[in-house]
Amino acid sequence: MTRRMETSPTARKQDSTLSLYHLLDPEVLANPYPLYHRLRSEDPVHWDPFLHAWVATRYTDVMTVFQHFSAERTPTPEQLTALGLTALTPLAEVIANTIVTMVGGQETTTNLIGNGILTLLRHPDALEQLKADQSLILSAVEELLRYESPSQHTARLAPEDVVLGGKLIRKRQAVIAVMGAANRDPEHFSDPDRLDICRQNNRHLAFAWASHFCFGAPLARIEGQVAFETALRRMPELKLEPGPITWRANLGLRGLTTLPVTF
Ligand code: HEM
Repeated sequence: MTRRMETSPTARKQDSTLSLYHLLDPEVLANPYPLYHRLRSEDPVHWDPFLHAWVATRYTDVMTVFQHFSAERTPTPEQLTALGLTALTPLAEVIANTIVTMVGGQETTTNLIGNGILTLLRHPDALEQLKADQSLILSAVEELLRYESPSQHTARLAPEDVVLGGKLIRKRQAVIAVMGAANRDPEHFSDPDRLDICRQNNRHLAFAWASHFCFGAPLARIEGQVAFETALRRMPELKLEPGPITWRANLGLRGLTTLPVTF
């Protein structure tokens, strides 16, 4: 993170084709990686006028955002007043934490299993390799988390005026850290678009990084290991049914609406 001359988002040419908003287009939803590739190579710290936020896609910038930017989401006294509250009561805090844990833990892990099975079925060599040697399950789960990350991005606020990737980000402007793009960054992962269930030193960002690193990551990893091992053992003839695959229309959570298979 270095300081340099100012660049105003409004002064720069705004390319709507680079907006993360396109993650809702069916073809981008099916394969967001070409969009991420364009962002990383053409404008790695990109002002997205539609989302009114900066979008960071390189591994190194996403790491900087996780390490130095703020996840401060506590409502201000003014926001609480607008909600008719004078303060966040201890009961409200318990309810909020319960919601975060349930939301954070449920759909993400479901999507790890669905995305992971789809990815294995699309890569028959890797599937056969895993069936033949289930000791690969630990590195396979990490690779499936990297390859089709269930949580594609999250946001932080700039703690002060700061330059990231050559762009001046103003204090408290939002920055979207795109883990799905960082996890395919060739500057960090060799041959990132190749599924390699034996990949070593796989420091992907599917669970984010630093102070808000996913609280449930160890549980999610075990759930993934058990689900994949059990599915492959009990359904050795598992195959994709021909036909279109439908991804859930969600900007941040990557998962399927259904996964038609035969077994
Ligand atoms: C494959 C499954 C999972 C994925 C991909 C995932 C991903 C993530 C990510 C990316 C974050 C960081 C969000 C941010 O910083 O804005 C996060 C945070 C969190 N996750 Fe998970 N998660 C998974 C499973 C779980 C499970 C099973 C639980 C609970 C049992 C859980 C509970 C949480 C909580 C409470 C946080 C907030 C931590 C904090 O702010 O300090 N997650 N998760």
